[in-house]
Amino acid sequence: MQLNPEEKETLQKIDRRLVPAHVAIIMDGNGRWARAKGLPRSAGHRQGVETVREIVRFCSYLGIKALTLFAFSTENWHRPAEEVNFLMSLPEQYLQTELPELVKNNVMVKLLGDPQRLPEQVTRAIDEGLAATAKNSGMTLSFALNYGARMEILRAVEALIRDLPENKDEVAVSEELFAAHLYTAGLPDPDLLIRTGGEYRISNFLLWQLAYSELWFTPVYWPDFSKQHLLEAITEFQQRERRYGRASGK
Ligand code: IPE
Ligand code: IPE
Ligand code: MG
Repeated sequence: MQLNPEEKETLQKIDRRLVPAHVAIIMDGNGRWARAKGLPRSAGHRQGVETVREIVRFCSYLGIKALTLFAFSTENWHRPAEEVNFLMSLPEQYLQTELPELVKNNVMVKLLGDPQRLPEQVTRAIDEGLAATAKNSGMTLSFALNYGARMEILRAVEALIRDLPENKDEVAVSEELFAAHLYTAGLPDPDLLIRTGGEYRISNFLLWQLAYSELWFTPVYWPDFSKQHLLEAITEFQQRERRYGRASGK
């Protein structure tokens, strides 16, 4: 892994045994990055894919067990068709070039979201990625595509009701049972949520799963997000005390 002197120095400050197991990222700010440079929004999305390549490689190198990237929300369909179409061309583009390396690095690809509304071009590329990496046991790389947390929760409720035995008056649903019906079934909850682009909101991402995640926000636009920024987020994460409602242990 090529690291510059600043990154090497920051990497030495983090405890490699205590890197967050699951990092989730709201990759925001592509459009503003492009506008600031006088470029079309698509140029920001294209550069954003380059950041995805770099961050995926780096997370796998760091030994992060799960990386979840918010790539397209259920609300993003409200954008102009031209932009939606461009965004829908990116998963295929990314996977075409990266799949061999993902396979080599033992990364498993996963889709979070409803595949129904996704164009065939996207589902074909994702299916290929899932099939090629299904047996891998290294980092789980989840793409949230046509993902909305409220929709995810409603789908889980529907599935639970469907599975209900007939003539049952009392129903007990545990947190574990509910979570097993979410798209993230089998994944641990995120330890660290990063949002780039300067907004302080969740935008319908992983509402259930983020209950006790540490949140880290940066004004940096996603196309400019670097290994160094990720290391800074992890450094701060390692300094926080996760109390889960208990009294401080310090
Ligand atoms: C994130 O960048 C990419 C997606 C949401 C698909 P944006 O396109 O939202 O960029 P801004 O927030 O308009 O700058
Ligand atoms: C969140 O970004 C969704 C993704 C990063 C895919 P948005 O740009 O859609 O969020 P809002 O509209 O600023 O809340
Ligand atoms: Mg945005």
